[in-house]
Amino acid sequence: MGHRICPWWMGPLLASPLRRFLYSPEDLLVAYVEKGMTALDIGCGMGFFSLPLARMVGSTGKVICVDLQEKMIKGLVRRAIKAGLADRIDARLCRKDTLDLDDFTGGIDFALACAIMHEVPDKDRLLSEIYKTMKKEGQFLISEPSGHVGAAEFEKTVQIAQKAGFEPVGRPEIRRSRTILLLKR
Ligand SMILES: C[S@@+](CC[C@H](N)C(=O)[O-])C[C@H]1O[C@@H](n2cnc3c(N)ncnc32)[C@H](O)[C@@H]1O
Repeated sequence: MGHRICPWWMGPLLASPLRRFLYSPEDLLVAYVEKGMTALDIGCGMGFFSLPLARMVGSTGKVICVDLQEKMIKGLVRRAIKAGLADRIDARLCRKDTLDLDDFTGGIDFALACAIMHEVPDKDRLLSEIYKTMKKEGQFLISEPSGHVGAAEFEKTVQIAQKAGFEPVGRPEIRRSRTILLLKR
């Protein structure tokens, strides 16, 4: 399939509370996120997961949110200010060919990539960059919408993640999704 970037005007829909009828971000993430952690939300959009992550890491933690669309980042920042969470969210605009996260090398406890991998043409590059940002024993959750991403395409992404150095450690159940939990040994 192609690598069409999700249009910015989808941002408010993706971050809408209506999405909670499908799943609750807190329920999906509670097994991986603790107070004080530094978490990374890759392709964060307007923050459906970023804001819950910010609550879960608490006032001693941090959430680094990266997206390549300025309008997504602006929407996220607006929502973070409204929720009183802006001080724990480091929202960054990245470029198509790099996340620009050298200052977080080896610094991330938990990373999330929800509904982004199918939009990225160079997955080798992205997954290697994510691997570099992770602490040892850091966990990384990739989840893709099963309506957009077939089983074979998803398995290719898992293979590329393994090539980057990640070890698959689980297949959490998320509704209408294909999901893998990876670990940096
Ligand atoms: C379908 S949206 C999902 C947003 C969010 N993760 C969620 O689940 O609500 C995909 C997001 O990934 C971003 N994106 C696509 N390619 C990217 C890349 N190479 N680096 C960073 N963000 C990217 C898009 O701009 C878009 O905001």
